[in-house]
Amino acid sequence: MSTNESSSYRSGSLGLDLHLELPARPGALRLASALRDAVRKGRLPAGSRVPSTRALATDLGISRGAVTRAHELLAAEGYLVIRQGSPTTVAPGPFHAPEPTDLPATRRGTELRWDLLPGKPDLGTFPRQDWAAAQHRALRAAPAAELDYGNPRGHPALRTALAEYLGRVRGVRTTPEQVVVCEGHHRALHLLSTVLRQRGTRSVDYEDPTLPKLRGIPRAAGLEVRAVPVDAEGIDVTGLESPAAVVTPAHQYPLGSTMSERRRKALCETATSEQRLIIEDDYDGEFRFDREPVGALQRIAPRNVVYAGTASKTLAPGLRLSWLVLPPALVGPVGEVKAHTDSSPAVFDQLTLAEMLRSGSYDQHVRRCRAIYRRRRQQLVSAIRESDTRHELYPAGIAAGLHLTLRLDPDGPSEERMLERMRRHSVALEGLAEHWIDERRRQDGLVIGYAAPPGHAFENSLRALLRGLAQPRNRGAPREA
Ligand SMILES: Cc1ncc(COP(=O)(O)O)c(C=O)c1O
Repeated sequence: MSTNESSSYRSGSLGLDLHLELPARPGALRLASALRDAVRKGRLPAGSRVPSTRALATDLGISRGAVTRAHELLAAEGYLVIRQGSPTTVAPGPFHAPEPTDLPATRRGTELRWDLLPGKPDLGTFPRQDWAAAQHRALRAAPAAELDYGNPRGHPALRTALAEYLGRVRGVRTTPEQVVVCEGHHRALHLLSTVLRQRGTRSVDYEDPTLPKLRGIPRAAGLEVRAVPVDAEGIDVTGLESPAAVVTPAHQYPLGSTMSERRRKALCETATSEQRLIIEDDYDGEFRFDREPVGALQRIAPRNVVYAGTASKTLAPGLRLSWLVLPPALVGPVGEVKAHTDSSPAVFDQLTLAEMLRSGSYDQHVRRCRAIYRRRRQQLVSAIRESDTRHELYPAGIAAGLHLTLRLDPDGPSEERMLERMRRHSVALEGLAEHWIDERRRQDGLVIGYAAPPGHAFENSLRALLRGLAQPRNRGAPREA
């Protein structure tokens, strides 16, 4: 045992490594405080054995009486359980507050058992074998020179493969030179925001509602974020004022609607005639269930639309791989900023994705996932429609993507109350209300990501969700909370 202010205590008898902040020869109170801290921070987990008074006293060089007093104090406070003839243990808890996090409250729900958080694919579907095979091929074929600093705009092989794929699958009109590879859409949006700011843009129009953490990115880059309402057809084009606008036409996030043909035309016409830049966030455009995917907006106005795609929904968010297709006029400015301030995904990940795109294994994987998510969506929608609730629930945005929204009956429980219930049933999902920029437009609802649970847990996640939603019908009952 060292005599430093911060000492690492190791109990030989339990083989337990335990970091305790202690001075040399601590008294009972200092020892109690250090042990309390270890319990609260989870270093001594609920139910675990605490080193014996004899072991602690020997290791710390203090009297057994002092250690016993510390244990008794913590037992009185409810942290420890002392039983005659049995080892002292940490009480069942929970004691420790979750680490502070800047994620929204419901995201902290990942410690909840049933994961229905939107924005996540089933990570178990990641095509490990295909990825490994493609990586192997890429490794074998790549000359040593590939390991040098790469092209900041992305590896030419990936940019070529993406240009072909996006043209074929999403109708995007591009050359490889217009494609820029980024480390995820969040980074890409930061890059675009920086370029816009440099070019004197002060504000950007955003669909209202939208994902809070995404609209925070242009804000952090110094742009004002203006809220423009969304209706069943998409963003209200007459509300646009800024030189740039961010939209999710294939599957509005979070409402899930698809921008109508009429609205797409109107948006592209304004963009062209008023020289606005549209940033098209096509985060889950490959997943359309009722008909062929709606093509990208970019093909209507390639000089005014930046197309943004990502591998986060099709493969896995942990890859941090995404892409932009730029109007020709932005290729230079974006490339310059990226060269100075941004980095690119690892070259072998880029080459692997290029190989998967070229060989067709990426398409096959997306088709497999589409079938899985289509089935899940159907199960979820049927279960919600048949669920035994006192109040009506309105599933929306079900034709595409990896999530749906559930509008709540204005006469039923509030969103807050529903989220609380979900937590009690250990279901992690998101509330709808926080997505609105303009508080006056806020609507209660739930955003349910049905792709997130692993295959083996989907049915149980669904059951847990239904238990959270269920309320026996009882017409005329008063509104809860
Ligand atoms: C609306 C929206 N766009 C884009 C993304 C993709 O972001 P990234 O590529 O950084 O994972 C997400 C992911 O959550 C999203 O919800």
